[in-house]
Amino acid sequence: MARLRTGVLISGRGSNLQALIDACAVGGYPAEIVLVISNRADAQGLERATRAKIPTRVVAYRDFADRDAFDAALDSALKEARVELVCLAGFMRILGSGFIDAWHDRMINIHPSLLPEFPGLDTHARALAAGVKRHGCTVHFVRNAVDSGPIIVQGSVPVLPGDDADKLAARVLAVEHRAYPLALRLVAEGRVRVLRDNVEIDGRPGPVRLDAVA
Ligand code: GAR
Repeated sequence: MARLRTGVLISGRGSNLQALIDACAVGGYPAEIVLVISNRADAQGLERATRAKIPTRVVAYRDFADRDAFDAALDSALKEARVELVCLAGFMRILGSGFIDAWHDRMINIHPSLLPEFPGLDTHARALAAGVKRHGCTVHFVRNAVDSGPIIVQGSVPVLPGDDADKLAARVLAVEHRAYPLALRLVAEGRVRVLRDNVEIDGRPGPVRLDAVA
């Protein structure tokens, strides 16, 4: 069966991109990355893509008159590469509602918290301050409200005594690297059905949960 043509949008380090690249390199994985776009020319993730022989584009916000023009440039780059699904992987620019609507149910994001808890930035410090016992990540379809949308996979980790934001972030990142390839696989295999606010996976209520013990 044809592999799902996937475009990945990044802004920085690209460790989640790397997890997706590694997953796609395994025989039988149902998706392939056909384009990586960064809004920053210095994103480390661009080197990861180049190493994997994946075409890259830089679409920098400041090169455009306004957000509509920026979004239009993203959209045409994705269309030129015949992208079928967009993965946001540490993409730190807010996208316009026109773009989000155009990619409805065809764009997913990874966020470093167990949504709906801790949308937005500094999720690890906020989780520690709130005293939660478990924290984690969420892969979800993108909707107009920031960090919202039907959830496909959540990966959780314990918050341990002595954690600071960096230690907790590293533990969450490890589960991110399992959750994103799993979510992309489920979508690419056509096993995810989007209902209004949630998903069914293989006909059962989602999300899939990965609960790491450490
Ligand atoms: C990841 O932790 C991802 O969940 C987060 O940025 C990091 C990117 O790391 N995304 C967001 O905060 C989106 N709002 P990476 O570039 O190494 O994948």
